Amino acid sequence: MEYPIFDLPFFGGSLLIAAIAIPHVFIAQFSVGASFLLALAERRANREGDSETRAFLKTYAFTVLLVPYVLGAMTGVGIWFATSVASPRAISSMIHLFVWGWAAEWTMFIVDIVAIYLYVYTWDRIRPSAHNAIGWILAVSSTVTLVLINGILSFMLTPGSWEPLAPYGFWKAFFNPSFWPTTLMRFFVSLALAGAVALLLMALMRTVPAAVREKMTRLAYRMMLPALACLVLLPWAFSVIPERSQQFIQGGAIAMTLFFAMGMACFSLLALGTILAMVRREWNPSVLGASLLIFFAFVGYACFEFVREGARKPYVIEGFMYSTGVTTEKGQALDKRASLAVLREKGVLSAASWVLPLGRTIAELTPEEKGYAVFKAACLACHQVYAGYNAVQPLIGGWTRETLRSYLDTMHEQRPMMPPFPGTDAEKDALAAYMATLTRRGK
Ligand code: HEC
Repeated sequence: MEYPIFDLPFFGGSLLIAAIAIPHVFIAQFSVGASFLLALAERRANREGDSETRAFLKTYAFTVLLVPYVLGAMTGVGIWFATSVASPRAISSMIHLFVWGWAAEWTMFIVDIVAIYLYVYTWDRIRPSAHNAIGWILAVSSTVTLVLINGILSFMLTPGSWEPLAPYGFWKAFFNPSFWPTTLMRFFVSLALAGAVALLLMALMRTVPAAVREKMTRLAYRMMLPALACLVLLPWAFSVIPERSQQFIQGGAIAMTLFFAMGMACFSLLALGTILAMVRREWNPSVLGASLLIFFAFVGYACFEFVREGARKPYVIEGFMYSTGVTTEKGQALDKRASLAVLREKGVLSAASWVLPLGRTIAELTPEEKGYAVFKAACLACHQVYAGYNAVQPLIGGWTRETLRSYLDTMHEQRPMMPPFPGTDAEKDALAAYMATLTRRGK
């Protein structure tokens, strides 16, 4: 609408966001768990005067915590870049709705960054108890960042009783219906990841003494076990998402169904693997075993994120804003420019300043050119044209212009993942004319 259109060939904006967001979340979450593992293990090692364990923890902090931390911060900036160019209106709304939430998040993030650098660089340079205190500051501040960001993210799928402009909106939005199950799940997965990575590190380091190995392996298993709760937390989260999204997962959209099932399977395997290793008193896991556990955690997690993003279609903020940035009746009071009601009256092109060919006005365009402009404003968020992410041309092979035109009247009823057409009848005519040129090309 009021922002330039981002047209990433083939992949589309949503895949770009996913490609950056999934590794980011994985790395960021790992560092939350890793800081707990370090703080806990260091406290015990200090109490027992165990310098061998401290030496292992130092390697853990320097190799597997610091590097991901830097990568996590970089991919975090990447997410802001990708979401701001791909869904600028959604990002703008989220920034406005959660002003203090973001402020708190960024403050915590600074505490977090300072703490990790102090933690790494003061190792063996200050009193062990003071060093461990920095570790706890790191563990707590990184957990708070996880909780804050998840309050904001979970709101997008389940706003619950939140209403724009109504009192206590921030709190209702933040403590939304899926806040607890998803926050707990993220926290438990983060602990599990840190545990599994410790196992891998030990498997790779032949020099770790047997006593340290056993102690750390026991701790790692204890950190991985709570991930078992995901098998309850996921169904809990499922029970509070909108009915439409539940139907996608229950077979309405086959990709969602598969990914949800795969996510559950991966978390089950992660829990099962941990329990089995504990029962067998396996204090010396192999590189393969540890890598498999990390793999299950990663794939399970990626599936969960994919379903979370996919199941909220056609909305980017449930019931409030469609993926295209157009707002619903609920958003109307806050949005004078591109609510569905305004666009239906004035046309989507009236608000989408950036979709017209450079230097031309609407009046100068042919119907097909106008139709392509409408496509960019109303469809490009979810469809590439010829090939790639959900490309539309292969979907409409053989459709006539009349079929296309009447489809636009009921697109949201035919496919519940699509928003209603945002624009005038004349714009529907133009879009149908443009799409008809695609089907000819396809033959
Ligand atoms: C919020 C995302 C989203 C937007 C915006 C969107 N679509 Fe779709 N569209 C989808 C999805 C997802 C599917 C696949 C649906 C399925 O398989 O259930 C789809 C399917 C289709 C199909 C195939 C129809 C069929 O019944 O097989 C056509 C045609 C289509 N879209 C046209 C459009 C046009 C034209 C626009 C713009 C006016 C548009 N879409 C906007 C998500 C979207």
